[in-house]
Amino acid sequence: MKPLTLPEPLASFKPEIGLILGSGLGFFADDRIEVVGRLPYGEIEGFPVSTVEGHAGQFVYGTIGGKRVICMQGRFHFYEGYSMPEVTLPIRLMHSLGVHTLFVTNAAGGIHRDYVPGDFMLLSDHINALGTNPLIAWQGDEGVRFPDMSEVYDGTLRAGLRDWAQSQGVDLKEGVYLATTGPSYETPAEVRAFATLGADAVGMSTVPEAIVARKLGLRVLGISCITNAAAGISKVPLTHEEVSETADRVRQQFADLLTAGIALA
Ligand code: HPA
Repeated sequence: MKPLTLPEPLASFKPEIGLILGSGLGFFADDRIEVVGRLPYGEIEGFPVSTVEGHAGQFVYGTIGGKRVICMQGRFHFYEGYSMPEVTLPIRLMHSLGVHTLFVTNAAGGIHRDYVPGDFMLLSDHINALGTNPLIAWQGDEGVRFPDMSEVYDGTLRAGLRDWAQSQGVDLKEGVYLATTGPSYETPAEVRAFATLGADAVGMSTVPEAIVARKLGLRVLGISCITNAAAGISKVPLTHEEVSETADRVRQQFADLLTAGIALA
């Protein structure tokens, strides 16, 4: 991979923590961060540009509770037609800037029968059902060839956030996230199959970024907002509007959870 040349002042900002803001959480960057600067993806040479409505497509960097963070306001999805190296390029960039901990957030459909829309789920683990892997044909000599994935989502950070949630009376679920490519939602038969495989929630992101982050030695924490009951569990057809509405409704609680996580990192 060609080394990325980064514009100043981001290059000397030296962020410690990276955040990927999923559906509905884009406001976090403007609301919760003391913003130092913004960098639209379009201004970074060799960077893909995000296409989905509602995804601004820029890095926002600044501080939160004294910690230096860099947020992706808008991420790249495989279903948009980006290659796996493109989807995960921002993680490599964050790593090259010095980021040591990555928070990944997303919207997901609930498979676990106890989950209701508006719940939050810490990722305890994931199932990669994308049919590919972002490390295939990896260009670069960072990390090991066959990285261990036995604890993708950091156990210490998870325990800390569980404790915080309990102390605040926040009902925080913890479960397995399964990633499909999308962009079609699942069939009820697929959802039943995923439940049998051990999945508690299903979505179309996060796994590529988490795999690359682990390859590069970053600590990772993942949080899903359960925006809907997965197909077949829900009696009504799924729509992107339902996903967006739920994500918007609980965005302040989501932001509180993320802020608490950052304080632990
Ligand atoms: N399936 C896949 N991705 C999703 C869902 C879902 O039900 N909800 C939000 N993202």
